[in-house]
Amino acid sequence: MGPLIEEYAKRLKLSWIRQHYHEVEATSNEEFLLKLMEQEIQQREERKTNLLLSQSQLPEVPSVPFIWDEIDYTQGLTRNYFLEGEFLSKKENLIFHGGVGTGKTFLSTVIGLNAIQSSAKNIKFFTVANLVNRLLDAHEKGTIGRFHKQLEKLDLLILDELGFIPLHKQGAELLFQVISLCYERNSLIITTNLRFGEWNHVFGDPILTEAVIDRLIHHSHLVVFKGPSHRMKESLLQN
Ligand SMILES: Nc1ncnc2c1ncn2[C@@H]1O[C@H](COP(=O)(O)OP(=O)(O)OP(=O)(O)O)[C@@H](O)[C@H]1O
Ligand SMILES: [Mg+2]
Repeated sequence: MGPLIEEYAKRLKLSWIRQHYHEVEATSNEEFLLKLMEQEIQQREERKTNLLLSQSQLPEVPSVPFIWDEIDYTQGLTRNYFLEGEFLSKKENLIFHGGVGTGKTFLSTVIGLNAIQSSAKNIKFFTVANLVNRLLDAHEKGTIGRFHKQLEKLDLLILDELGFIPLHKQGAELLFQVISLCYERNSLIITTNLRFGEWNHVFGDPILTEAVIDRLIHHSHLVVFKGPSHRMKESLLQN
C-alpha cells in the first residue's frame, strides 16, 4: 500500500503526508487524519512564510529590542496599529522622518517582518536608489508593465532612504508612477531624512513634488524619529 499512498499523496501535492505519514501515531482513524492534516497545513504555512520572506528583500533585523520612546506619532495610534498591520488593512501609508541612525530602517523592517509572519502579507523592501535603478532598467528593456504588476500585488511597499540622493528627471517620474500606482491600492512606508518642504531636492520639479506629497499625505501618518543616532552610540561603545 505504501507506494500507492505515496503516489496519491504526490498527485494531491501533500508533501508532508507523503514523506511522514508512517511516523504518525494515533488511537483512532479520526485522530490519525487530523494529525496528518495539521502537519500538512503547518508545513504549507511555513513554506509560504519562507517564500514571502525571501521575496521581500528585507534587511536583517537588529538583535536589540526597538526603543519606542524615541519616536513620536499621531495621537490615538498604538504600537499594535503598526505591528498588527492595522494600517495595512486600511491601506494607509507611513512616513518615517528623522536623522541618521535613529531607527527608521529598523522599525520598517520590524513592521515588514511582522506582517509576513503574523498575516502572510506580501511585502517588498527597496532603497529608493535601488527601486529607481530597477525601474530605469525595466523601462529600457520594455518590461515596466510586468514590474508594475508585481508591485500592484504587494500589500506593503517599503521605500527606504528617500532623499539620500537626488533623482534624474526620468527616475523621478518613474518613482512618481509607482507612488501613484500604490495610491489607495496598497500601503507604503517611506523613510526619509528630509522634511516635506525639502522633497523638491529629490524630485527636482515642484509640480511633480506636490503631486507626490498630495497622494502620500492623503492617507498617511507621519512618524518622527527624534532619538540620537544609535549608530554613533554603538560605535562609541565599541571603542
Ligand atoms: N529606536 C531604537 N531602538 C533600538 N535600537 C535602535 C533604535 N534606533 C536605531 N537603533 C540601532 O541603530 C542602528 C541603526 O538604525 P537604523 O539603520 O534603523 O537607522 P536609520 O534611521 O535607518 O538611519 P539612516 O537614516 O542613516 O538610514 C540599528 O541597527 C539599531 O541597532
Ligand atoms: Mg536607514
